[in-house]
Amino acid sequence: MLSEKNIVNELDTEVFGRKLVVLDEIDSTNNYAKLLAQDGAENGTVVIADYQTAGKGRLGRSFVSPKGTGLYLSLIIRNNISVSSAQLITSCVAVVAAEAIEELCGCDVKIKWVNDLFLGGRKICGILTEASIGFEAAKLDYVIIGIGINVSSLKGKLDSELEKIASSIEDETGEKISRSKLCAVLLKKLEERMNDIESRAFLKEYQRRSMIIGERVVIEEKGVSRAGKVIAIADDAGLTIEFENGEIHTINSGEARILKE
Ligand code: BTN
Repeated sequence: MLSEKNIVNELDTEVFGRKLVVLDEIDSTNNYAKLLAQDGAENGTVVIADYQTAGKGRLGRSFVSPKGTGLYLSLIIRNNISVSSAQLITSCVAVVAAEAIEELCGCDVKIKWVNDLFLGGRKICGILTEASIGFEAAKLDYVIIGIGINVSSLKGKLDSELEKIASSIEDETGEKISRSKLCAVLLKKLEERMNDIESRAFLKEYQRRSMIIGERVVIEEKGVSRAGKVIAIADDAGLTIEFENGEIHTINSGEARILKE
């Protein structure tokens, strides 16, 4: 069962999750965390819900968050983050979440740029990072890191379209993982890695786990679609693509859809 007591029992962090809000139900943990941050909540505050009625995904999409099956978590970071490193946060979190899941289920978790985690060809985790620019233009006031991991079986809980592309750790591996344990491992690893984000050491692992390097993709950016081949993950975590006209560009926003041969 997901409860503050169970999470605290497992927690081994210094800062992350030491201020913890566990809710039965909320529209979106990111929205709730944003309210707390605007009210001055401290660095490392975490909001978790058992059910989100309006979970948010990237690019204005929703994140379906059925009751009792997932880890829906938002972490407030407020420690002098530069605007330039904000872009690295989502990719760093993707690596950390993949490592945490792998530690508990022993499975090979892949990353699809920017921030989707895949098991057995279907998405099991998404990450939504939202930032508030501070008065000092080059610094962020706070960042909300929202992580949604599908943990227990989703059989019969998704509509038929979503069922084709989304799955859960249990459905892909048969492993029944404790959400409290996963939360504790995730926060511990996040605390370690986020302190070292500027070194970009996580990028090597990001590249190793990438399921998109070498693939033909369609990039959808600001309403424009272009096809090309992914040749690398760049040093700023952008996607370097050779487009069909031979031009090579690194993109930092938008969506990449892998083309099946
Ligand atoms: C995506 O797949 O595009 C990102 C999904 C992010 C979902 C998480 S669940 C916890 C947090 N609260 C939200 O409303 N969204 C994030």
